[in-house]
Amino acid sequence: MLNATDYQKIVFFTGAGMSAESGVPTYRGRGGVWNKYNWEEYACQDAFDREPEKVLEFHELRRNAVLKCHPHEGHAVIAALEKQHPQVIIVTQNIDGMHQRAGSKTVIELHGSLWRMRCPKHGTFEDIGETYKSKTCEKCDRRLRPDIVWFGDMLKQDVMHAAMAAIGTCDLFIGIGTSGVVYPAAGFPQIARDNGAYCIEINPEASPMSDIYDRNIRETASTALAGLFASGGQKPF
Ligand code: OAD
Repeated sequence: MLNATDYQKIVFFTGAGMSAESGVPTYRGRGGVWNKYNWEEYACQDAFDREPEKVLEFHELRRNAVLKCHPHEGHAVIAALEKQHPQVIIVTQNIDGMHQRAGSKTVIELHGSLWRMRCPKHGTFEDIGETYKSKTCEKCDRRLRPDIVWFGDMLKQDVMHAAMAAIGTCDLFIGIGTSGVVYPAAGFPQIARDNGAYCIEINPEASPMSDIYDRNIRETASTALAGLFASGGQKPF
């Protein structure tokens, strides 16, 4: 067990496995989104330029699926820790907003959000709900696209800088539920390790990054997080 007070800055780095117990499908492995859907048809700018309605429908399906899911105990442990510890930062690859729904405030969304739309001229707009509020920008009538980092897109620079700043200065880094194959995020455990953080992986299965971590917990996110901090995670101090 860990005492959160022993660490000054804690980064939780989460992937699709963090949301799996909430019922949100992962991308790879059994039941993975990319086993069922070809990303070249649904998750890249080319696909959107070719068939915007098809791409938007796919993301609407995902929004509906996520709205039926709820944060689990593991999300609650992280949110509770943030309330009591001065520096808890979540760097997530997830676009589902589940950490925020659990009450977490400091969430860096590397791959964007299902709950925002983006105009090429006027920036991003929050858009929460089963269907899109609008598919065109109210200011200029341009087509809006989901504010998600699709295959072939660059990560936003400010988001990447914020993530790197947190990861490069934390002393506890906990990677949860990520397959470690999508860069640049896959390189984050190495950066944390190189900067002296104690690194823990939570994943029932080994990943290509497993050896970088100081400790591997082969349990699901909710089970591992519930037992990780002294006092069961509900009261980390
Ligand atoms: P993946 O679907 O690639 O990997 C999910 C990981 O979660 C696997 O290593 C599983 O073993 C693990 N896992 C499954 N159930 C778990 C549980 N209950 N508790 C803990 N771990 C569990 O998802 P990501 O690594 O997040 O990008 O994928 C990275 C990116 O690839 C995503 O952000 C997405 C995708 O293409 C974009 O959409 C831009």
